[in-house]
Amino acid sequence: MEIRTVAEVLPAGPPLTEQQQIGRHAARDSCQERLLEGSVLILMEPRRVGKTSFARAALARVAAAGGQTAELQLTSYPDPELAATELARQLVGGLDRVVEPSRRSLDRLRGLSAPADAGGEAPLLADLAKALLGDARGFPAVFAHAIDHLPADGHGAVLLDEAHVIAQWPKPLQDALCLLLRANSRLGVVIASSETRALNELVGPGGALQYAGYRFPLPAIDPGDWRTGLRERFVLLGLSAQDELLDRLIELAGAHPYRTMRLAQETARVARSLPSTAAPAPVGNGDLEAALLTVRSDPAWTELG
Ligand SMILES: Nc1ncnc2c1ncn2[C@@H]1O[C@H](COP(=O)(O)OP(=O)(O)O)[C@@H](O)[C@H]1O
Ligand SMILES: [Mg+2]
Repeated sequence: MEIRTVAEVLPAGPPLTEQQQIGRHAARDSCQERLLEGSVLILMEPRRVGKTSFARAALARVAAAGGQTAELQLTSYPDPELAATELARQLVGGLDRVVEPSRRSLDRLRGLSAPADAGGEAPLLADLAKALLGDARGFPAVFAHAIDHLPADGHGAVLLDEAHVIAQWPKPLQDALCLLLRANSRLGVVIASSETRALNELVGPGGALQYAGYRFPLPAIDPGDWRTGLRERFVLLGLSAQDELLDRLIELAGAHPYRTMRLAQETARVARSLPSTAAPAPVGNGDLEAALLTVRSDPAWTELG
């Protein structure tokens, strides 16, 4: 059996692929189903519990079924027009070579709608250019464009991650987006953020995005799934862990997804650093205690506890 690296098998930090994730199977099925139905889902959960991983995996399933998908980390786009351009770039996949966020290139695109150049893509490009150039409400315009251009029997899903920044957008932009989301019944949308207070102000009573969608609670990872998932991952690392040790590990981490993976990762490192004649090598309480000392010195451990 190929022995893989600890960080590969027990990743703590980056978003995880569906295969890397432990548990939440039923919730993922349900999320996928709702996205295919064109629902707008609000993922309002604390930091590092798996929002991005979960939503991405659901989007990946929509993409695997032939749907169009896009993901925006909205904190990366201080200007909503840049977010609009990036959304257009991702949604109009094959056309991204020609769609650049500059006015000149968009003007060029607009010229393409002249009958002499009119190929199959011309009306689409012209529409897109209009949407991008349209007005200050660029983001909703691109959104509307994406909804309008979904194939009749096709699907699509968009993840707006770190979406609390929408609260900083100009009010007309927020209102336009809200109207669009309320009227939408075709494009699946996930609105996610760990800034739960800011997001709540946005989607809660009196907020700019009130009634734009409904909350999708991210379930805790089932203890049985944790145990099975961690045991399997330890085996991949050439280690064997008893249920009792796994239960203690999960309890020490409060079953918080990042903390549990972080402690498991460090425990595996300690266990693998010690010589053992047994194969697979057993993970002992001493390994867990040593790992706990290390992770406790990390500010994130306390902050997320
Ligand atoms: N289903 C899961 N199984 C195991 N660990 C998970 C799971 N989801 C998240 N994690 C852990 O949490 C970390 C952060 O995940 P991420 O999706 O970025 O969370 P968020 O978007 O809520 O901040 C991951 O690197 C991983 O260690
Ligand atoms: Mg995230």
